[in-house]
Amino acid sequence: MMKNIRIAIIGCGNLGQAILKGLIDDHTYPTENITATKRHIEVLEPFQKEGVIITSDNAEAVRKSDLIIVALKPHNILHILEELSPDLNPDKHILVSLATGISTAQIEEAIGKKLPIFRAMPNTGADVNESLTCLCSVHDNETSVSQVEYFFNLIGKTITIDEDLMEAATVLGACGIAFVMRFMRAMVQGGIQIGFDAKTANIIVNQTVKGASQLLIERKQHPEFEIDKVTTPKGCTIAGLNEMEHHGFSSALIRGIVTSFEKI
Ligand SMILES: NC(=O)c1ccc[n+]([C@@H]2O[C@H](COP(=O)([O-])OP(=O)(O)OC[C@H]3O[C@@H](n4cnc5c(N)ncnc54)[C@H](OP(=O)(O)O)[C@@H]3O)[C@@H](O)[C@H]2O)c1
Repeated sequence: MMKNIRIAIIGCGNLGQAILKGLIDDHTYPTENITATKRHIEVLEPFQKEGVIITSDNAEAVRKSDLIIVALKPHNILHILEELSPDLNPDKHILVSLATGISTAQIEEAIGKKLPIFRAMPNTGADVNESLTCLCSVHDNETSVSQVEYFFNLIGKTITIDEDLMEAATVLGACGIAFVMRFMRAMVQGGIQIGFDAKTANIIVNQTVKGASQLLIERKQHPEFEIDKVTTPKGCTIAGLNEMEHHGFSSALIRGIVTSFEKI
């Protein structure tokens, strides 16, 4: 049934294309049911070859779709939604906005209609079907919730949160990708200093981070539980960890997260 739902991705830039790649790579959803829009559509041509319909006509994309994913920037989303309002049908459409900091109330005011409105905060893990997407919604019902969850589950994992946590979700989940990348870069730099070439250090770090993450996901344990298992008394792991803490490792991360949150 979900395969008959037609999707429009309006403003298909970085995040829109990450979602698009995720949907294509999943191989279960028919690409001819997806329409992607942006003004400069040349960059979307590779997706056209996969069967996706590409156009600069947002209104046409909305009219022929059921689930409208709006991946525009926060500065122009409300103005474009206002323009699209005549084409939005409350009996047919489900609207999903990805715009950071734009509330469902602002969206509803822009479109002047009551339809199921969702805010989704995925991250660029969507590119490899490993997004964590936080969702919140108004005027939803069982059907719209299951449809939106179904599509975002194709590109990773989905959780539902209160709307007032959406900004915090952006920091922890979306900015979080950059925080983890910076931590990984530092590990690679350390690895090179102790003897590995960059390529080998990257392989070791990437797989180590993946393994650490998988341990926590599968065993559902607190990180400290897994840390205790690898810290031998008087050993090298605890010596390294404590040295990092003396230099403010945990504190730097927490302060970075709080600073991003204050900035948002
Ligand atoms: N990047 C992330 O990790 C991330 C995570 C969570 C949420 N978000 C949110 O996701 C949204 C998109 O972010 P992004 O990084 O993907 O931005 P982006 O790459 O700039 O994508 C926005 C796209 O909108 C298109 N656009 C602009 N005006 C348009 C119009 N009138 N009609 C159709 N398309 C139009 C632009 O392409 P043209 O110039 O060719 O039209 C552009 O490619 C933002 O609201 C952001 O807050 C991003």
